[in-house]
Amino acid sequence: MNLNITSIPGDGIGPEIVNETKKVLNKVAALYGHEIVFTDILMGGASIDVHGVPLTAEAVQAARQADAVLMGSIGGDTKTSPWYQLEPKLRPEAGLLQLRKELNLFANLRPAVLYDELKDACPLKTEISNLGFDMIIIRELTGGLYFGERKTVLENGIRKAADTLVYDENEIRRIAVKAFEIAMKRKKEVISVDKANVLDSSRLWRTVTEEVARDYPEVTLSHMLVDNCAMQLVKAPARFDVVLTENMFGDILSDEASMIAGSIGMLPSASLNDTKFGLYEPSHGSAPDIAGFDLANPLATILSAAMMLTYSFDLDKEAAAIEAAVKQVLSDGYRTGDIFSPGDSSLTKVGCREMGDLVAARVV
Ligand code: IPM
Ligand code: MG
Repeated sequence: MNLNITSIPGDGIGPEIVNETKKVLNKVAALYGHEIVFTDILMGGASIDVHGVPLTAEAVQAARQADAVLMGSIGGDTKTSPWYQLEPKLRPEAGLLQLRKELNLFANLRPAVLYDELKDACPLKTEISNLGFDMIIIRELTGGLYFGERKTVLENGIRKAADTLVYDENEIRRIAVKAFEIAMKRKKEVISVDKANVLDSSRLWRTVTEEVARDYPEVTLSHMLVDNCAMQLVKAPARFDVVLTENMFGDILSDEASMIAGSIGMLPSASLNDTKFGLYEPSHGSAPDIAGFDLANPLATILSAAMMLTYSFDLDKEAAAIEAAVKQVLSDGYRTGDIFSPGDSSLTKVGCREMGDLVAARVV
C-alpha cells in the first residue's frame, strides 16, 4: 500500500519525537511491504520564523492532499519566546487550531491506558492503580470555547475580555455519533461529561446526546458533571470506558488522564473528520525546556502513528505490531526520564533516540 503522509515536526521536542516515529513507521513499511512518502511542512513557531505566520495556505494544501498527517508538537515558552509577543492569531497555537478547523477534524480520540509495566509511574494510590484502566476520551475539537467569538475591550476605563462557548445541535450530534460508534466496539458504555447544572450549551449537549443514544439501544449512556469527572478520574479511573465531552473540558481532562497513565509522554491522539483522513499527534505539548537534549519520550507519537495505521489506513496488523513493540520495550525495562523510577534496578534510562531505536527493533 502507498502511504502518503504529511509530517509536521513543529517546535520544541516535536522534531525529535517525529524523527523516532518515522523510524518506526519505516520499519513497519519495510517489514509489511508498504511504501511511505513523508512530506514535511512547517507549522507553529517553525513557520513563524520562516513565513511570519504559524500556518501558510500552501501548508494547509499539502496537508489536505495527504492521506494522513503526523504531527509532533508546536509552541514555545510563553514567557520567553518572541512568538508570544505577536498578536494571538499569529502565535504558534493558532496554526494548529486553524489546521483542525480547515480540515474539519472535529473528533479527537485520546486513549488513556495504564500499562501494567507503568503502574509504578502512576501517581495514584496502589489500591487504585492496581485496578488499572483503559479509557478513551472523545473530545469535540472544532467548536465550543476554542472557536466562539472572543474580544478584549476597554469599557468605561475597565478592561474586559469575553470568550463564547457555542455549540449547535449538528456539532454535538456528529461527535456523539462517533462516541457511540466507538462504544459499540468496546464495552458499550458512554459517559458524557458536561456542566449542565450551569451552562446552556451543556444542557443542549445532554439533550442531543440522549437523542443519539436512542439509535444505539445496546449502549448505556450516563452523564457526569465535569467537576465530578475530574475527581472520579483520580478516585476511580477504572469506571471509565468511553468519555464524550466538549472541546475545553476534553483538553483539561485528557491532561489529567495522561498523568494518571504514568506520564503525559504516553498519551497518543487522533483527530478525525468524517472521512478516513486524520491528524495524529501526541496529547502533550512541545516541552521547550527539554527540547534538543534527547530527553523526550517519543512513545505518545509512536502510538499516535499506530492510531494512524488503524484509522486512516485500516492496517490493523501493522498498528498492533507497533503497540506490541512499545509494550515489549516497556517490559524489557527501558524508560525515558518521565517514566523512569529511580531506585528500581530493573530499569534502564534511555534518551529519545535510543527509545525510537528500541521500539523499531521490536517491530516484527
Ligand atoms: C492539546 C493542546 C492544544 C489544545 C493547544 C496546543 C492549543 O493543549 O492538543 O490538547 O488546547 O487543544
Ligand atoms: Mg491540551
